[in-house]
Amino acid sequence: MRAIAFNEFGGPEVLQVVDIPVPEPTGAEVRVAVRAAGVNPADWKIRSGALVFGTPTFPQFPGGEIAGVVDAVGPEVTDLAVGDEVFGWARAGYAEYALATELAKKPEGLSWVDAVSLPVAVSTAAKVLDLLKLQPGETVLLNGASGAVGSMAVQLAVADGVTVIGTASAGNQDIVRGFGAVPTTYGDGLADRVRALAPAGIDAVFDAAGHGFLPVAIDLRGGTDRIVTIVDPAATDLGIAFPTGGGGPRPTALAHQVAQRLATGEFHLPAPARTFPLDQAAAAQQESETGRTPGKVVLTLT
Ligand SMILES: NC(=O)c1ccc[n+]([C@@H]2O[C@H](COP(=O)([O-])OP(=O)(O)OC[C@H]3O[C@@H](n4cnc5c(N)ncnc54)[C@H](OP(=O)(O)O)[C@@H]3O)[C@@H](O)[C@H]2O)c1
Repeated sequence: MRAIAFNEFGGPEVLQVVDIPVPEPTGAEVRVAVRAAGVNPADWKIRSGALVFGTPTFPQFPGGEIAGVVDAVGPEVTDLAVGDEVFGWARAGYAEYALATELAKKPEGLSWVDAVSLPVAVSTAAKVLDLLKLQPGETVLLNGASGAVGSMAVQLAVADGVTVIGTASAGNQDIVRGFGAVPTTYGDGLADRVRALAPAGIDAVFDAAGHGFLPVAIDLRGGTDRIVTIVDPAATDLGIAFPTGGGGPRPTALAHQVAQRLATGEFHLPAPARTFPLDQAAAAQQESETGRTPGKVVLTLT
């Protein structure tokens, strides 16, 4: 089968199309014939060597989320069968076939590309909202509300009765408003704009975009309590929570629920995905690296 691999850290050019055996599922593993693979900012950070987990070995096979058709199941799998349409978290997802253990059924009517936009965004948003312990009636400031993670976090928080002030570029203000948040632009004067929008103050901050935002967050909160970033390594020195992507069970039930809300039009993605064929994974990662939104970057396979 065709897959994407890299043998050294570097620019997008280190990504290669390789021919490797189709993996065999064991235990609780499911083999998925991949129809769409999500491209996340973490993928280019790992490829470049900016984000290293443990002692690196090569080759590495990128891709943390997939959508596709169950093709084979390990002996311990009881809830999925060959032919089921699924989406979820995986390793080595930039490939024609991938193994996974944490999958949800894809609702009928939801496209592969839309389904694969959910796993990492939903699990990251849910993890941070959980850490912030938001209550109905509270107000959260969300930096990066037009992005993949931010847009999901906005909609989950609003659905729980939380008021969200969401930052985005000037061109993406309407998108953020459409998610039920109060939009504002990031950059100079942000603290003043937030104070004007929330005179009683904000209860918590979710930084899903970085770009030197934490000092503004601390200023607005009057300290580091109830601030979480998923982007800014400066958090560690500041005593601010900075959860990483891995570890712990994935919220498959929540992902399925969000997928259904997407299929019924209750939830929305920020914009149509920007799609690339598998052999253009390098171009797809370059697109992701620009940080331009809206729209998920996705590899499509036929
Ligand atoms: N730690 C974890 O577990 C974890 C998990 C997932 C993601 N992440 C990280 O979280 C970040 C967001 O991921 P994503 O997939 O949501 O990315 P994304 O879809 O590319 O979204 C990026 C967001 O950043 C905003 N942005 C761009 N320039 C900005 C600036 N100068 N100031 C403030 N905001 C700015 C964008 O707004 P406009 O487009 O409107 O400009 C957009 O809302 C990435 O750095 C990713 O690596 C971490």
